[in-house]
Parts: sequence; structure tokens; C-alpha cells
Amino acid sequence: MAVFQEDIHNTAYEAKYREPRLESGGLINTAGRNCESLNGRWNFAADWYDTCRRADWFKEVTTNAAGLPQPVDWDWEGWERIPVPACWNLEKPELHYFEGTGVYTRTFRYVPKEPGERLILRFEGAAYNTCVFVNGTFVGSHDGASTPFNVDITAAVKTEDFSFTENRIVVTVDARRSPLRIPMDNTDWFLYGGIYRDVYLYRLPPVFIKDWFVRLATDGGIDADVYIANAEGGKVQGTVCLKIPELGVQAEAAVQDGKASFHVKANAERWSPESPKLYEVTLGFTAADGKTRDQTHDRIGFREIAVNGTDVLLNGKKIFLKGVSVHEDHFALGKTTNEDIIRQTIRDLKEMNGYYLRLAHYPHDARFAKIADEEGVLLWEEVPVYWAVAFDNPGTYADAENQLAELVLRDRNRASVIIWSVGNENADTDSRFAFMSGLAKKAKALDPTRPVSAACLINHDELRIEDRLTSVLDIIGINEYLGWYDPDFSKLPKILANSAPGKPVVITEFGGDARTGQRGTADDLWTEDKQKALYEQQIAVIKQCSYIAGMTPWIFYDFRCPRRLNRYQEHFNRKGLIDADRVRHKGAFYVMRQFYGE
Ligand code: GCU
Repeated sequence: MAVFQEDIHNTAYEAKYREPRLESGGLINTAGRNCESLNGRWNFAADWYDTCRRADWFKEVTTNAAGLPQPVDWDWEGWERIPVPACWNLEKPELHYFEGTGVYTRTFRYVPKEPGERLILRFEGAAYNTCVFVNGTFVGSHDGASTPFNVDITAAVKTEDFSFTENRIVVTVDARRSPLRIPMDNTDWFLYGGIYRDVYLYRLPPVFIKDWFVRLATDGGIDADVYIANAEGGKVQGTVCLKIPELGVQAEAAVQDGKASFHVKANAERWSPESPKLYEVTLGFTAADGKTRDQTHDRIGFREIAVNGTDVLLNGKKIFLKGVSVHEDHFALGKTTNEDIIRQTIRDLKEMNGYYLRLAHYPHDARFAKIADEEGVLLWEEVPVYWAVAFDNPGTYADAENQLAELVLRDRNRASVIIWSVGNENADTDSRFAFMSGLAKKAKALDPTRPVSAACLINHDELRIEDRLTSVLDIIGINEYLGWYDPDFSKLPKILANSAPGKPVVITEFGGDARTGQRGTADDLWTEDKQKALYEQQIAVIKQCSYIAGMTPWIFYDFRCPRRLNRYQEHFNRKGLIDADRVRHKGAFYVMRQFYGE
């Protein structure tokens, strides 16, 4: 049957794009690697009815079986262009609430430099389901809006006729919300769409260093696991060399089953917010046949984060996590960020005398943890298992676990990251307990060095911190809105007195909305005066509670939110300590600055 007829009747067309899945198992650690950027203006069309994937536009069939020209509905070079990275919602007014599938396309030239070279295409983030096509071949599909993925496109690119051959990439990005996705279709933040983070090409040898995990060992030395991949699938034989020149570390280990492990003695200066010391770490691989070599490097801080009773210890010393929650939401760029925005956020945090951030509610741009490593900021990182996800749906669990694995693999070498969070504000049900316990176990399996947490709810009937999930958490996050959603603030001291969590508790959210410049009494909702008074009340109670080891009030900046529609909110959640303009500070900011400065 001719192509155009098939696309009309095939309602199960998405099944064509289930495999190959681009997931954490194939994720390559790209730290220290050279890359070629594919950022820039790509041709784009809002494909409202997903016709590209129904009718296989990427195959570029323009004649029928008899070779006669037939009309097509796509027009790569005739389409408008939008920037990559960007959220399409902010590129054109008519795309602001577009939640369908965007089709992106561009060409690139590729001239191999080394024999056997592999060409890897990597996306740092695209929301939500991304299908990648190269020269008419479907090369893979990824689910998840906030974690990186990569695909080996060596077999799909043309390399003959070197300098004149153009390779075409077509990418479909389906931003539809769904009750089965992570996050699901109801969130208190704006779900942007598009290729909103960077896109790169990497050239790797056929046998290469795929990943590594280098960290402080429990005996004060250094542990390292280095993973080697063979793109052609064969067995890997060879040696890995680990060097940390400043520590006089130079060690070699044989690769066994794709991994080389090290435990070396060293006396590394501990990384901390006061002294964010980073060491150059070089990794080298030499194949047994001496032919293939690969090397890369990373800058790593060595520190210990631990829990003891109700205390959180950094390098053996009890700390109070002086922080604030922050969304990856910018009034002009949406979920797309850049180094300037990240550095300004950290400057704002330090102006508030803080040194800890809850990167809510999903993995933020990879650069955040890298810059936090340099700046001495501690981070809570989280997967968007938010509110009422489909806890009893196996496909949803697989999606959540894969996003968690992609986050942990991406950032486990970052000293700044101290806590993995498996979710936020989920009802305490059996299916949720099984789902999130599974995620906690997965996080520990990939990284036994960091505590696992989640933002849990208070049992408001019993006025107690009570949530079965806390039994599998190392640190208990608690969201409480006494003084705002529950106006009877007197309950907070009762709740804290009624609870005996036996583990550190971090108040992951408290706060209230204030329209910048709106003034009134301490009881007038939506005013800066009410927000400021609420913060003063919260701090006065929280500071009395010995098992509270930190706080990240909600939230640093006002952020875009389609649920917030009253005259003070106007499509923004106004709980920010700083206005969405990221300039005007509200009165409550100075309350936090004073408390953290004590
Ligand atoms: C919840 C939720 C946040 C939300 C906040 C609010 O606790 O975790 O995502 O924005 O409360 O209601 O403002």
C-alpha cells in the first residue's frame, strides 16, 4: 500500500519507534571530551497531528513505486528556523501552549579523522519523547525531559565523497503531557517543549572509556571504577591508567568484564563549600593489542557526606543545610539555561548566606553541578516523580528508573551533589511505596556514597511526620505549608513535637505567595508583608527542632505555572523570594539572609 494511505489507517504507528531505546545503559560520560556543536537554527515545524512519524517523512520518499513524483507534506528547507537549544513555547506566541510534536531538521558534514572512529550524537535534554532519524534511518528514541541521551550514528552517516556529503538529521520531539509519563500531566510548573538543551557530536575510538566513578573511599583513600566499551561489541582486553598528579597517584589496572577498578592511598584535601578543592583526574586506556588508545579527564572533588542519627555530616562535621529550592525556569528562556544564569543563581544564593540548593523537581542542566563544584555549593538533585504518577504502571516505573539512572550516571562524579531525591509529595499508598522504594534501591546500587531522600507529606490528621517511605530514606524531606495552605500555624510546633523521625529531616518546602511590591498587613494574602511574617514564624519554630538538619524554602524565584491564574499570580507561582525578573528581592529574602548569616 502506498505510504500516504498507510499513515491514515495506522493508529498504532508509535510502535514503530519503541526500539532501539536510548537509555542509561548506553549513556557515555562525556566529561573532558572534545565535541562539535550542532547548536544553531534548525528548520522546524509544529507537527500538530504527528504526521512525520505516521507518514515516515524522514524517509524522504518523493516518488511512487513507478518512479513518478508524488506530493509530500514536508518541506525541510522551506520551514522556518528556530534556535537549538530553546523552548519552542517562547519562540512564537502561537507555540506558547503547543504540546504536540515538533519536527526539527538540519544537515551536517562529517569527515572521519581516525580509522574505526565512532560518531556519537548526544542531546543534553529534550522534552519529552525524542525520536532521532539520520539519513532516513530511525536510530533511536528517548523518554524523559531532563536527562541526557546519546546514539552511535556511525552506521547511518555518509562518509564517501568526504567534503561535499551532507548528512540530514530529523528529530521529532513529542511534548504531550500524559498521566503515564514522569512527570505526569498535572504539575505545578510549566512543561516546556523542544530541544531545549545542547546537541553535540563526539568522535570516539572503537574501544573507548565509556564511564567512570571516582570518589573518596571509606578509608580515606580513593576508589575508582572505569568502564570500557567496545562499539563493535567484542570483548575488551587492556589496561586502564588512573592519574591524579597533584596527589602523586598513578595506578594501572587490567580491564575485566569491561571494568577496571582501583583503590589507591591518597591524602586528598577535602572538598567543601568553604574550600571547593578540585583535582585533575586523567584516565587512559590501552588495548592489549597496543593499537587502540583512549584518554579523557575530569576535575573531581573528594568529600564525604554521611548521616549519623539525626545529623548530616560533611567530612565528619555536622552541618545545617542552608538552602533554597529553585526551578529551572527563566522568564525569557523557560527551561533553557546558560552559564550566566547558573552563576547568577549561585551569587544570589551566596548573597543570602546560603550554600545549598534543592534543584527541583527534575535534573537541571549538567553545567549546574559542574559550576557548583567550583563554587562550593551543595546540591539536592531529584527525578520528577511528582504528585500522582501512575505508580501501578510498569512502563512508568521503567521510565522513572531510567531517568534516575541517567541522572546518577551523569552527576555521580560531582562533589557538589550530596543527595539523590526519588520524588516529591506523593500519597502514601502501597503502589507508591513499591515504586519509590525501587527507585531508592536503584540510586544506592549506582551510587552507595550518597544519601537518598524524597520530599514527603505530613500526616495532617495525626499531626505527625509519618510516611512509610521514610523507612527506606536516609534523609527525610518534608513539605509543609503551615501559615499558607494551612493557615493555622500553631500546628507546626505540635507536628514537630509529635514526631520522632530518628533520621535527619530537611524542610524541603515551606512558603507563601507574594506579588512583588504588593504591601499590606502580616495577614494580607499575596503581600510581601504576609510572606515575610510567615518566614519569620517558620524560622522561629524550625530552629528549635534538633532533628531538622536543613531547609530549602519554596522558592528562590517566581516561576511560570499554568495552574496559577488569579490576579496576583497571572500564570506565575509567586512564592519566590526574588521576582521572576531575577532582580527585585522581596522582604522575606532578607529574613532568610539574616537567619543564614547567624
Ligand atoms: C508543592 C509542590 C511544589 C509547588 C508548591 C506550591 O509542595 O512541591 O511543586 O509549586 O507546593 O504549592 O507552590
